[in-house]
Amino acid sequence: PPLDQMLNLMDFESVARDVMKKEGWGYYSSGGDDEITLRENHLAFQRIWLRPRVMVDVSKIDMRTTMMGSESSLPLYITATALGRLADPEGEVVLTRAAYSEGIIQMCPTLASNSLEEMIKARKPGQTQWYQLYVNKNRQLTEKIVKKAEDGGMKALFVTVDAPALGRREKDMRNKFAASAPDVQKGQVNRQQGTARAISTFIDPSLSWKDMQWLKTMTKMPIVLKGIQTGEDALLAYKYGAKAIVVSNHGGRQLDTARSGIEALAEVVEALKEVDREGKMEIYVDGGIRRGSDIFKAIALGAKGVGIGRPMLYSLAAYGQPGVERAIQLLKDELEMVMRLMGTPTIADIKREMIDTKSLSLH
Ligand code: FNR
Repeated sequence: PPLDQMLNLMDFESVARDVMKKEGWGYYSSGGDDEITLRENHLAFQRIWLRPRVMVDVSKIDMRTTMMGSESSLPLYITATALGRLADPEGEVVLTRAAYSEGIIQMCPTLASNSLEEMIKARKPGQTQWYQLYVNKNRQLTEKIVKKAEDGGMKALFVTVDAPALGRREKDMRNKFAASAPDVQKGQVNRQQGTARAISTFIDPSLSWKDMQWLKTMTKMPIVLKGIQTGEDALLAYKYGAKAIVVSNHGGRQLDTARSGIEALAEVVEALKEVDREGKMEIYVDGGIRRGSDIFKAIALGAKGVGIGRPMLYSLAAYGQPGVERAIQLLKDELEMVMRLMGTPTIADIKREMIDTKSLSLH
């Protein structure tokens, strides 16, 4: 179907399912084990109800915000997803271009199909990129990668902490998925093992809170921990000096039956209130964000912004750069409508009491 018939993010998903090769579709769409967390990520938003306010001048809606000190046209970013070439022969650089034209931030993955240099080169002046880091067993290699990212102008370091081992993804196992290895691993990896195994051997399962000092001294970029799922770990992240956290279950691809991102966010925000009264630590959330109302709810709960994963890959696979741009515009239109109907002309007007979370386990 023509691009203008794509009316929401789910539409892109159906087209991607039809046009992608079985292996690529399996890799992108899969979750861990029974995919309960994968489904719950989006479903959980249905348990949060909106409490709109009326008689507010909403003739102008301003959705701009800042995240990690950088400006963004919307409170959302393209999160890191590995192996972009399964969606587009050019890979992640197409997302870089789409992020630029829509004025949003891109988080670049360690396990990108493109090299770090290619992603940096694709960035336009004034555009913001962040770097997602998988810590390698070879700590010197890790330091080298991080230095390259910092010298290349990346503005924050998102260290993924929810993947000491790669979750079991049965679609991949059935497909015997073995795409070509990400650029960072060229030459290092035994391709016979298949891509999933290769990726998991890249990640160091010994990473622990003791390594926070090492992470902080290796770079001037602010350290963000991606993959926090409890109040307890949010408090530790704060104590060990993380500048921000991403509440995330890795898109339901890791530990199945972990709670949804939005459910965990409610707990994390409560826990941090005690120690971080001024709200200095920024909190992000990802997982299952598909509608403008999902973004609104995350912000009302206390998120500074949200990460979008699969919809960026699906729109890329289905229509290339124009597809990704349209997907972002649809979210923008939806959020604008929700803000208008909620009586919130700016992001700062979005307040906790505008959502009813009585149906979440924590409220
Ligand atoms: C991911 N995600 C991810 N996260 C990360 O830190 N490093 C990575 O390399 C990847 N790779 C990856 C590949 C694919 C195909 C997907 C779908 C996801 C997780 C990602 O950053 C994010 O947490 C989720 O994708 C958010 O959920 P949604 O938006 O996909 O529902």
